[in-house]
Amino acid sequence: MLLYTLLLSFLSANDNQLLFYGNCIACHGEVRKPSAPNFAEIKGYYMIKYPNKKDFIANMAKWVSNPNEETAQLPEAIKKYKLMPYLSIDLDTLTSIATYIYENDDFGVR
Ligand code: HEC
Repeated sequence: MLLYTLLLSFLSANDNQLLFYGNCIACHGEVRKPSAPNFAEIKGYYMIKYPNKKDFIANMAKWVSNPNEETAQLPEAIKKYKLMPYLSIDLDTLTSIATYIYENDDFGVR
């Protein structure tokens, strides 16, 4: 029980980060043979369009819940890599992940 409580508090402290690494880095983290743009680049484009934290998070979460060409901020990336597949992750989780991206600059790219 104590272990469980410890595990839970560890998880919630690092929740957003774990969700980000678990779901997004497979495609976005590869440097030598990238199959998707890296998050430093994506974040740059979103920061220009949505400098406000709330807008940034809401719009990124919304796009990832429904990848499409019409509302993409990086249309050139779609030409280069093809449209990102739909991942079937709920909007709450995507909001946590977008919060991680907004608040951090460590995207596991070395
Ligand atoms: C199966 C591979 C794959 C996974 C997994 C993946 N992506 Fe992507 N993503 C792509 C590709 C390819 C692109 C570039 C083409 C495009 O924009 O559709 C992209 C583009 C994006 C963009 C740019 C959208 C825009 O406005 O142009 C965002 C934001 C993004 N991904 C977020 C995420 C997040 C957050 C996760 C984790 C929940 C994730 N991706 C997981 C492949 C992936």
